[in-house]
Amino acid sequence: MSNDKLHIGIILGSTREGRVSPQVGEWVKGIADMRGDAQYEIVDIADYNLPFLGTTDDADPAVSRWNEKLFSLDGFVFIVQEYNHSITGALKNALDLAREAWNNKAAGIVSYGSTGGARAAEHLRGILGELMIADVRTHPTLSLFTDFENMTVFKPAERHRQTVNEMLNQLIAWSAALKPLRAKQ
Ligand SMILES: Cc1cc2nc3c(=O)[nH]c(=O)nc-3n(C[C@H](O)[C@H](O)[C@H](O)COP(=O)(O)O)c2cc1C
Repeated sequence: MSNDKLHIGIILGSTREGRVSPQVGEWVKGIADMRGDAQYEIVDIADYNLPFLGTTDDADPAVSRWNEKLFSLDGFVFIVQEYNHSITGALKNALDLAREAWNNKAAGIVSYGSTGGARAAEHLRGILGELMIADVRTHPTLSLFTDFENMTVFKPAERHRQTVNEMLNQLIAWSAALKPLRAKQ
C-alpha cells in the first residue's frame, strides 16, 4: 500500500452474463470515494477465472492470485444478489477458496433482490462468522422493483446513500480496530 489508509475491496458477488452487480458496485464506490477515509477498489470475482473448489491443486495460479488480492485488503463490502434465497455459487466458491486471507477483517453487505436480498445477506453472515470476518450491522437493502428500472437499470432511491455511509462508518472503524490482530497473523 502506498499510504496508511485502509484498503477496502468492494467484491462483486455475481459473475452472470448480463449481471447488474457492476452498476451497484460502482455506485457504492462513488459514495465511498467521496469520504477520503480509505482506498476503495472494485474486486470482480469474474476477473479471476477461479476454478471450482477441488478441481485443481493448491498451486493453481488463479487461486494464488485471488488469495494475494484478499491478503492485500483490510476489509470488504460484499455486493450480494439473491439467488434461490441465498448467495451465488460464484461467491460461495470464492469464499471457500481462501481462509487466512479472510481472517480478522471486517465486512459490510449491500444486497439486492425482490426483498432487498435480505435472505442472501443473512446466509452470508453465517459464512462470514466461520471465516472470522466481522460483519457490521448496517445493511443497505436494494429492491429489484423500486431501485431498478425493468430490474436492469440501477436507479437507487436517494435514502440509500445515507445507509451506505453508515455501513462504511462501521466498516472502517472495525477494519482499523482489527489491524493489530492481522499484524500477528
Ligand atoms: C438462478 C437465479 C435465482 C434467483 N433467485 C432469486 C431469489 O430467490 N430471490 C430474489 O429476490 N431474486 C432471485 N433472483 C433474481 C436476481 O436477484 C436478479 O436477477 C439479480 O439481478 C441478480 O443479480 P445479478 O444481475 O448481479 O447477477 C434469481 C436469479 C437467478 C438467475
